[in-house]
Amino acid sequence: MCGIIGYCGKKASSEVLLEGLKRLEYRGYDSSGICVDSPEGFKIIKKTGKLKNLLSIVPERPFGHNGIGHTRWATHGGVTDANAHPHTDCTGKISIVHNGIIENYETLRRLLKEKGHTFKSDTDTEVIAHLIESCYKGNLTKAVLEALSLLKGTYGLVVMHQDHPDVLVGARNGSPLIMGIGDGEMFLASDAAAIISYTKQVIYLKDGEVVTVTPDGFQTVDLDEKAVEKDIDVVEWEAEAYEKGKYPYFMLKEIYEQSKSIQRGMNGRIDMELATGHLGGLNMTPEELLKVERVVIIAAGTSYHAGLVAALLLENLARIPAHAEIASEIRYRNPIIEKNTLYFAISQSGETADTLYAMRELQRKGARVLGICNVVGSTIARESDGGVYIHSGPEIAVASTKAFTSQLTAMYIFTLIMARLRSMSYEDGSEFIKELTAVPAKIEKIFRNVENINIIAKKYCHTESFLFLGRGLNYPVAMEGALKLKEISYIHAEGFSAAEIKHGPIALINERTPSLFLVPDDRLHDKIISNMKEVKSRGGKIIAVAVENDEAVKGIADDVIEIPRASEYMYPFLMSIPLQFLAYYAALELGRDVDQPNNLAKSVTVE
Ligand code: AGP
Repeated sequence: MCGIIGYCGKKASSEVLLEGLKRLEYRGYDSSGICVDSPEGFKIIKKTGKLKNLLSIVPERPFGHNGIGHTRWATHGGVTDANAHPHTDCTGKISIVHNGIIENYETLRRLLKEKGHTFKSDTDTEVIAHLIESCYKGNLTKAVLEALSLLKGTYGLVVMHQDHPDVLVGARNGSPLIMGIGDGEMFLASDAAAIISYTKQVIYLKDGEVVTVTPDGFQTVDLDEKAVEKDIDVVEWEAEAYEKGKYPYFMLKEIYEQSKSIQRGMNGRIDMELATGHLGGLNMTPEELLKVERVVIIAAGTSYHAGLVAALLLENLARIPAHAEIASEIRYRNPIIEKNTLYFAISQSGETADTLYAMRELQRKGARVLGICNVVGSTIARESDGGVYIHSGPEIAVASTKAFTSQLTAMYIFTLIMARLRSMSYEDGSEFIKELTAVPAKIEKIFRNVENINIIAKKYCHTESFLFLGRGLNYPVAMEGALKLKEISYIHAEGFSAAEIKHGPIALINERTPSLFLVPDDRLHDKIISNMKEVKSRGGKIIAVAVENDEAVKGIADDVIEIPRASEYMYPFLMSIPLQFLAYYAALELGRDVDQPNNLAKSVTVE
């Protein structure tokens, strides 16, 4: 997902733009660039590779007062300096940065070429610059509006024109764009991370809105140029939340934040007196919740794994049929929307295209879809029919950790609500709350035994393949552990239901392929022990995540990671923490870019 920053005001804009791009690095990118006004005209500096490559060629002394910046994630056109943003028109007076995909750019490019326009890049974005040029008659906003009427596709974009040195025009359709309001200065950005150190006063643009900003104010219109009133929001997080602080990587910081982020996700949502929960954003009355006969959860990646856990818990405790589906699959399956089925879209970023488009398809067919998101004002959060913010705090590392356990927290509270509306007793509800609210302290206990995990990670990370095995609620956790390891250490890993190992995967067992078993002391404990014995008897190396002093496990496993005892329902929280650390330390040992791993972006806003 590309990163966008725009600034107009009294500060030296090159400095604001570069600082903003630093805070957008986490989204993943392959080139970056800025365009800054100057008395001699636009200064455009752009470069492939990491931001340090751009910083090495930008003038030391900050300059300019109006400017735009971009981190590019290549979609149309290779990773080259010429394809990096910003892009300009033929005159060089119009400069643009853009996030999204223009579907009819080839047709437009051909038509513009026929009119004599010459192109310097292979990108769809440059076509927008020339389109604006062809529509420009002195008013930049009008030219942008006219150009947008010819575009098909998605965009979050910011445009500047040399003849309007203190104006920026921003527009949004399908890719996020927010406006930051300063004192005598204004910002435009693809997310709050880029501007939080300057202002917490923001306005979230909606699809189909165009904003014209100057240092002293802004005007927002729709695509028909009708004025649109906008509310000012306040970003709930301090700038520190977007910084690594004392940690070497965001991922480590975010793993350690989980005892607090899970607690934050429960604050104000647990009702001890009635032994139930409260999720105001559901926009559903108890009567409506009682009518729900099925729950379907759609998501991608880690969020899908959270959905799998949630579906099992709903079925187990609330006695409601529930299942989770990969968003990109359900979208194209022409799903049947059954009456009294409640859908959830789980998405940390709230911008994942697969999940967003699947949600829209379900809504088009009449489904009610609730969003479980982390980023306030994100597209899924805004377009869903209600939902819950997980309040995990900004998750910057590409590998999702605290968002996963915060998604679980929200869905556990939803399950409690649904269960207590149905057959769950007051006593069982109270016990569930007692166990759930004890999770943060138990996670803190795991934090005190991390060195052992580091040793195990170093011992096994030079393998080509890793198996993760769990059962019941911990089967999705095994899948999540495999995803964590593969996405940041690049070791191939697969998560299985432990019983499944004998239906094929056991052929993979050898002394080089470690098998990590999740072994809670629940009713499936002994069955997992026998699955472990099957691996052991074939010479496989075994790592076990098990409760303290489990002698049966210690007698079989080559290495054990201990976690505190808990109710069987709470192990997905406790089991996932060691797996996050294991992935982190393996990646570290292998010298990987832990926060921005190979080929990955924090939010995948393309299909
Ligand atoms: C998980 O570590 C990955 N970053 C990825 O699988 C992620 O969970 C997935 O892309 C979904 O993102 P979302 O939660 O923002 O929708």
